Amino acid sequence: MTSMHTDTFEETISLSGSCAAAELPCAMVVFGGSGDLTARKLVPALFRLYRNNLLPPRFALLGCGRTGFTDTSYREHLRAFLGPDTASGTDGWDAFARGLHYQQIAYDRPGDGKKLLESLRRIESQHGTSGNRLFYMALPPELYESVIALIQHGCLMADCPGTGCCWSRIVVEKPFGRDLATALQLDSTLKKTFTEEQIYRIDHYLAKETIQNILVFRFANALFEPVWNRQFISRVDITAVEDLGIENRAGYYERSGVLRDMFQNHMMQLLALIAMEAPAHFTPGMVSDEKAKLFQSLRPFNPRTFASRIVIGQYGPGTVDNQPVCGYREEKGVDPESITPTYAMLNMFIDNWRWQSVPFYLKSGKRLDRKETSIVVHFRDVPHSIFRDIIDPIPPNRLTFAIQPTESITLSFQAKSPGTAMSVRSMNMRFSYGEEDARTVDAYEKVLLDCINGDKTLFLREDSEYLCWHFLTPVIERCDQCLQHEGALQFYPAGGMGPHPPGWAWTGRIETP
Ligand code: BG6
Repeated sequence: MTSMHTDTFEETISLSGSCAAAELPCAMVVFGGSGDLTARKLVPALFRLYRNNLLPPRFALLGCGRTGFTDTSYREHLRAFLGPDTASGTDGWDAFARGLHYQQIAYDRPGDGKKLLESLRRIESQHGTSGNRLFYMALPPELYESVIALIQHGCLMADCPGTGCCWSRIVVEKPFGRDLATALQLDSTLKKTFTEEQIYRIDHYLAKETIQNILVFRFANALFEPVWNRQFISRVDITAVEDLGIENRAGYYERSGVLRDMFQNHMMQLLALIAMEAPAHFTPGMVSDEKAKLFQSLRPFNPRTFASRIVIGQYGPGTVDNQPVCGYREEKGVDPESITPTYAMLNMFIDNWRWQSVPFYLKSGKRLDRKETSIVVHFRDVPHSIFRDIIDPIPPNRLTFAIQPTESITLSFQAKSPGTAMSVRSMNMRFSYGEEDARTVDAYEKVLLDCINGDKTLFLREDSEYLCWHFLTPVIERCDQCLQHEGALQFYPAGGMGPHPPGWAWTGRIETP
């Protein structure tokens, strides 16, 4: 990790000439500063970084949005979202909160850019942030065009006459469009002002510890890579299921559905990490190159195989945690005849030498029986069993990357049971982050720190976005047609396992050790 960090840091510095590294001071401008994402994720993550001395000492946040707040009422509003452990008053909140500011703006009034510039300059001189500016789009993509106009009218891009030593970056949350065409449109809007180098497209899954560990596990050990192919692996299951429903996000989810919400980004990224080739060096550019090659090798879905390789569902009423819950169509804000899928399972293939004919099953859904994110790699059967009189068949080895709710890597293998008789049983070798002393860093803490440090390793490059949309857009379009014309949407009870086609041998569940 250290060398990666150094590489990208050098890249940043060389971009801006020979600037001193200093302590990377920065002012973060959050568009959508009064919204949920800011209060629930961004500010708590920044506060945890602060408490662990990971935030630059010269740091300030300028929230902006339509709601009217003063600096004081904004700080109170944000504090209310912190957990109980931060309510003592001795926890550093007051000192941290002095760096939080607010400016009310109207997104459709480009002239408000000037107001923003004035506030920003005042905050910069108050906190000594050296002109480095991190813009964060914590709002729906429909507003991006207006925000870019505000940035342009307000001349908000960092400008350090004489030194040229400051930077501007922009962080963009998903969804990156609705399909390939809208993703291209979104990028062209951003690029009116920012270069690709300055755009940080977030996928918070990539910052989870075990997901970052996948490449280390694969390429920092000599043991696994030689068997990481079609000769030794029979199939791979990638799962991201939740017991939660759509919460209060009907407006977004109705237009998105599970394919856009989870597959175009998180699921495709998990697939890339588990299946890509080794980059020549662990740099953001080289990792992105290998991901792009992987996405180019995905076997497209075609009308003949479509029905046999995709399952789509929507949750109906059911029971979660012994409590009755309503179906998707009864959720507040959802069309009672909605055909938005809340569940999908895709059987994918990668057409290259390493993975030819190995099925990858990707499954994600809401209101299922549990919260679980995992990748299970299934190895092939032993070629010949000398123990067939004792155990038959011998369960094949499995390697499980458990990502949520706990983080671990487990290899299951067969061993002799102790005792006088010869018998064979399955055992697990397990590495668990929970048993480590070190504090694991939350995904938002990691991505925010990387943005400040200019490390793009965990962010998506534009071609990744386009290739994923290129692959999924026909699936989404065809799905919509099927749903409308052929009734392919399967309804499943909330709290269950979701629809499983009988022929698909999916067993991607994390095993209790
Ligand atoms: C988000 C999706 O990106 O990821 C949500 O929009 C989903 O619908 C969430 O619930 C899951 O994230 P996590 O980190 O809780 O697995």
